[in-house]
Amino acid sequence: MMVNMMKLSTLLALAAGSSLSQAQSCNGGSPALDGADFILADQGDNAHLAPLSKIFADAGKLVNVSDVFADGNHAMTGSDTKLKWESTADFDDFNTHKWVPQGISSTADAAAEGTYDGADGWVISWHNDGDTSVRVTFIDRETKKYRHALLVYPEADDDFRAVPIHAGGIVWYGDTLWVVDTWNGIRVFDMSNIWQVGSGDGVGKVSDGEYSAANYKYVIPQIRWYKWTPTSFKFRHSWVSLDRTVSPHRLLVGEYNKDASAADTRVVQYELDEATHKLKGDETAAVFAHCVAINRMQGGLALGDTFFLSRSNGASNGDLFSWTPGNTAVNNVGFYPPSPEDLSYDERTDVVYGLTEVAGGRYVFTDKRSDIKT
Ligand SMILES: *[C@@H]1O[C@H](CO)[C@@H](O)[C@H](O)[C@H]1NC(C)=O
Repeated sequence: MMVNMMKLSTLLALAAGSSLSQAQSCNGGSPALDGADFILADQGDNAHLAPLSKIFADAGKLVNVSDVFADGNHAMTGSDTKLKWESTADFDDFNTHKWVPQGISSTADAAAEGTYDGADGWVISWHNDGDTSVRVTFIDRETKKYRHALLVYPEADDDFRAVPIHAGGIVWYGDTLWVVDTWNGIRVFDMSNIWQVGSGDGVGKVSDGEYSAANYKYVIPQIRWYKWTPTSFKFRHSWVSLDRTVSPHRLLVGEYNKDASAADTRVVQYELDEATHKLKGDETAAVFAHCVAINRMQGGLALGDTFFLSRSNGASNGDLFSWTPGNTAVNNVGFYPPSPEDLSYDERTDVVYGLTEVAGGRYVFTDKRSDIKT
């Protein structure tokens, strides 16, 4: 009776004498895989979010994204196409080892018109040195001023704590912020619930009505978690991006692996519900899964059938591949300076956003898609 419930791909794999996990493995190549095996399950909305939100709303400390974009306290320098993080004697995001930038998205992902609540700019995720906390930066496109905010997990009706994940990629979609959690799936944060807190080193409640967040002024709470539930194999959620050019919109998630011949280099896509900004269904299978045989893949983007995939090469320049399933990937060798990461797209001007993570070489890039060889 269990056999009736097994998927065809599983039966074929068993019939061929291979183990179940091999059906989802790349084995050093770039085969297409069965998306049905790649499942994310909604763990339900966080019940502490509403009571916490009420505390901040009642205190007049519930703010919106326009407020945060307009409240920049640091500034990017450099050119529009290569923005450099603030680096002064007092404050140095360009060189610090305490925080490392990882994910990129923008108001162009958030909404079809490219702006969100009147704001226009980027959001960037950073993990800290021990992966014990995540911050997200709002950069205003016009002024280049920016403000960091802390991601938090509502752990009680009146308290929250830091979010201990790597945050290798992010997507801002409507009022939700999707953040990859390496082996555990994707966590979603609520951009319609940004709370202003007081100063203080701790993260969470200080006393009744008083909160702090490691001296950050704003926090963004987790609302839900899409958990990776397959037990027969793992998937490394290294980065994520959004494709608004297809209907329904899709999330693309991919995995970093050092060695393409020995490990898996998969990209998978999930369909989004455009009205609710959730995945389609409570247990959602990928609608596309493929191996790409590209090692050190740090970011990716799909626009219909065309994929763009970034690769880091240690201290050497990073590469940007373009690829269509079934064809050999085209390498734009050294397209990025060292340590490229996550990617994001802006349909308004047909540009690809990227960023680099290495201390002393941290930038946010804007490149014309037409400059990428396909
Ligand atoms: C955001 O909140 C501010 C008040 O803090 C308000 O003036 C502004 O209109 C709000 N923006 C939007 C788009 O709702």
